[in-house]
Amino acid sequence: MRGLTLGWASDSVPRMPGSTSARIEARLRRLFARPAAAASPIDQAMNLPLPPNRLRAGGVHFRADRDFLASAVAEADRVVRDARSTRPFSLLDIGCGAGRLAYGLLACGSPIARYEGIDVMPETIAWCKATISGRYPTFRFATIDVYNERYNPDSSRQAAGTSLPFEDGSFDVIYAYSVFSHMLTDDVRAYLGEVTRVMASDGVAIVTAFVEDGVPDEAVNPPGYQGLEWRGALHCVRFSREHFEAMAGAAGLQLTGFEHGGETDGQSRILFGRAVSSG
Ligand SMILES: C[S@@+](CC[C@H](N)C(=O)[O-])C[C@H]1O[C@@H](n2cnc3c(N)ncnc32)[C@H](O)[C@@H]1O
Repeated sequence: MRGLTLGWASDSVPRMPGSTSARIEARLRRLFARPAAAASPIDQAMNLPLPPNRLRAGGVHFRADRDFLASAVAEADRVVRDARSTRPFSLLDIGCGAGRLAYGLLACGSPIARYEGIDVMPETIAWCKATISGRYPTFRFATIDVYNERYNPDSSRQAAGTSLPFEDGSFDVIYAYSVFSHMLTDDVRAYLGEVTRVMASDGVAIVTAFVEDGVPDEAVNPPGYQGLEWRGALHCVRFSREHFEAMAGAAGLQLTGFEHGGETDGQSRILFGRAVSSG
């Protein structure tokens, strides 16, 4: 494997054998090095064209193909771990963008019984449908027309009062990466209600958001937060942890995991299950 340079940001950092980064790197090395004849889910996923840069969300972080793929594989790994499922599971990817998680799940041969990706941007959904669903019909994508000042400013349909187009209790895993980081309180509240509705009784919701202690309940583009300059509509919506958890609690969710600040631009990764009703 010497001479094969993946060239990601942390190349100079030694990795602990067995660590997550070592496992991801090993997987990527296999992915890049495997001869074409040895068809596997990984090779098949690699033969999928990657989304053009203009459709990739996440700023500079996922622009390079290997960064996009490395993050996709890392995400899929974590999602499968957190699903804690002994059988193939169903997953709803809210704000799926250009299908980053779907690529990772396919690259890992993850045990997916049903994948549904929804997003407000018709162009990314059209691309995912044509490219991913065309080959993997288990992976389905749909546009949802909901107003978002940043991503769908021409819509007249608000999140509040919108039902996601899925049956009650139909997903084992609900995933929303870097979506609530671009939504205001009322919209997040409405979506968390829908998350609870469509989540299976023993399901898990995995979301990321800008969440901090000791800050105002909601701040849009807080100056200098994370050492970054936030520009444009809803570039960064930051919540106080208390406010975010209260919204989730009111929606019927119970916090089961919280990892502070380790995600894109300093977002936190937050896990919820259904709250056990006291009655
Ligand atoms: C920063 S991107 C993240 C994309 C993807 N989750 C990823 O991690 O690569 C945010 C995505 O959320 C979508 N989005 C914003 N508001 C939404 C809403 N109300 N419903 C569904 N998707 C939404 C945007 O269109 C965009 O694709």
